[in-house]
Amino acid sequence: MRETRLAADDFILPLFACAGKNVRREIASMPGVYNLSVDEIAKEAAAASELGVKGIILFGLPEAKDEAGTGAYHEQGIVQQAVRAVRESAPELVIMTDTCLCEYTSHGHCGVVRDGEVLNGPSLELLARTAVSQAEAGADVVAPSAMMGGQVGAIRDALDDAGFDQVAILAYAVKYASGFYGPFREAADSAPAFGDRRAYQMDVANVREAMYEAELDYAEGADILMVKPATCYLDILKTLREQFDLPMAAYHVSGEYAMIKAAARNGWIDEQRVMMETLTSIKRAGADIILTYYAREAIRVLSS
Ligand code: PBG
Repeated sequence: MRETRLAADDFILPLFACAGKNVRREIASMPGVYNLSVDEIAKEAAAASELGVKGIILFGLPEAKDEAGTGAYHEQGIVQQAVRAVRESAPELVIMTDTCLCEYTSHGHCGVVRDGEVLNGPSLELLARTAVSQAEAGADVVAPSAMMGGQVGAIRDALDDAGFDQVAILAYAVKYASGFYGPFREAADSAPAFGDRRAYQMDVANVREAMYEAELDYAEGADILMVKPATCYLDILKTLREQFDLPMAAYHVSGEYAMIKAAARNGWIDEQRVMMETLTSIKRAGADIILTYYAREAIRVLSS
């Protein structure tokens, strides 16, 4: 009588690529999640694929950051290197890349900053360059997460012009200005140096604005729409699911993962049970794809 069933191919595993060799640095607030050098990420991806993971999304920690976020769109950028390495080590994996500037800019904002303001227009150009360079490296799906207006359209045009019309766009269509990204900003060293992201991420209290954002991304050519974070926004996910026929994704983010881990480590909750309950609720609300740091653990439970 069970209406909702999780399966291995629901999950996308996020991985963080960093510089160096033989580096496996655990992120303090995300037990079980590591910053991995390119050689290690190649092994990690192959092992995940072996276990049944069908897709990964790559984030990068560049060796150096600058005002223009050069590391995001450099041919030898850390994510570009990681994509090529994973293509070799795990050829059957779907490779997604996060398309944003915040991990690469010295100021930590998702776009170009001038006089203390994030500028939408100039940011689009750099985001489009980032997407094209990720596609050139071999990404199957690019995932623009900067929340700049018009980013999906700009990236679609740039990809098509460069001959990558087969590369899909997973649009972070509805991304809330959330407190749940805290551990990620430690993992990716991407906390903004001044101000916050409220000017370009969404007010947590808004639902009509979510529909409007999703409408724009849909019209600009998004292939998959994503809601982020997941569990506090299941109502948004369900409403989007009813309004759009595109595949729907949800990002079970760092803070959502960290809370379960922390409570479980204290013996206050049953980790496996709460993990599966959480992921089931996300699927029940309408997600076709779930980005989660728990991808491997959930697959292990499903196949046990
Ligand atoms: C980059 C980006 C963020 C996350 C995914 N892409 C951080 C942010 O917006 O600050 C968060 C993911 C997570 O918390 O697991 N713009």
